[in-house]
Amino acid sequence: MPLTPMSDAPRAPVAQPMVPRIAHVRRRRHDAPDAWTLELDMADGAHVDYAPGQFNMLTAFGVGEAAISMSGDPATGPLIHTIRAVGPVSRALTELKPGEPIGVRGPFGVGWPMAAAEGKDVVLVAGGLGMAPLRPALYRLLGERSRYGKVTLLFGSRRPEDIVFRHEVENWRGRFDIDVDVTVDHAGADWRGHVGIVTTLIARLDLDPAKTIAMVCGPEVMMRFVSMALCDRGIAEESVWLSMERNMKCAIGHCGHCQLGPTFICRDGPVFTYRRLKPLLGVKEL
Ligand SMILES: Cc1cc2nc3c(=O)[nH]c(=O)nc-3n(C[C@H](O)[C@H](O)[C@H](O)COP(=O)(O)OP(=O)(O)OC[C@H]3O[C@@H](n4cnc5c(N)ncnc54)[C@H](O)[C@@H]3O)c2cc1C
Ligand code: FES
Repeated sequence: MPLTPMSDAPRAPVAQPMVPRIAHVRRRRHDAPDAWTLELDMADGAHVDYAPGQFNMLTAFGVGEAAISMSGDPATGPLIHTIRAVGPVSRALTELKPGEPIGVRGPFGVGWPMAAAEGKDVVLVAGGLGMAPLRPALYRLLGERSRYGKVTLLFGSRRPEDIVFRHEVENWRGRFDIDVDVTVDHAGADWRGHVGIVTTLIARLDLDPAKTIAMVCGPEVMMRFVSMALCDRGIAEESVWLSMERNMKCAIGHCGHCQLGPTFICRDGPVFTYRRLKPLLGVKEL
């Protein structure tokens, strides 16, 4: 099987980055109470090549555009996005039915450090829908398993019913080449798993900090505490990588909407090291 390109290798710039290309919804799946996964077919039949951690700007025609990460397998299959309905655009996107058109600009941004992770142990820490941008990285790690050391997924959700990609998480738990630990903040008596915030899983992690790289995605407050906990366990700040979700407009470093000092989240990120993001975490809006 041909090897897929290194995710953090430079990629060709998107031709006509401000012009949405048309795609159609192939399939739609309800993944959590307010989250839906859309599989898309590009109208021109093209395969969209992207790196784990990159995002597209998706247009719900007549409503608007929002940044949404790829959540599928970059090596195969259609373009896949998992979207939580939080406002007008995301709601309109989640309500699209099979066959309906959607606009796609991208892929944009710099994704997870897959090449830097080669030969290292990799810890993925996901909070809620933060699992969506991490899922392509996990597919890559499992698809090219011999390139990486030990792979661990720590996944926290608010309640059992909020766990996205539930069946897949069960499958990953059944594999011998990945350790999966799932926790929820609150659960009823029928939940047999761990209860507590995701940082509590870090304390019991068996890791070799010098050869570990961590990829973290979730709400900013979660990423801050997870990063601190990972660094407390001895992982270097430059080996902890986070994906920032801030408001975006152009997605190509032109409008300044996502700019913080010299950093454009859309162009230089959304994935950055904790060392670089530490002073920015907690800054309200850009
Ligand atoms: C690089 C990047 C990748 C992203 N990937 C995804 C993804 O894979 N899936 C996804 O669902 N979203 C993702 N987002 C977030 C998504 O772009 C926003 O949720 C979107 O802008 C919402 O647009 P809207 O018009 O529906 O809501 P808005 O009108 O922008 O927001 C409505 C309300 O929801 C709040 N809100 C906005 N975003 C969020 C959020 N993420 N969580 C909770 N509350 C929020 C706002 O503060 C506001 O109060 C990503 C953002 C970025 C920058
Ligand atoms: S969204 Fe325009 S500069 Fe980043």
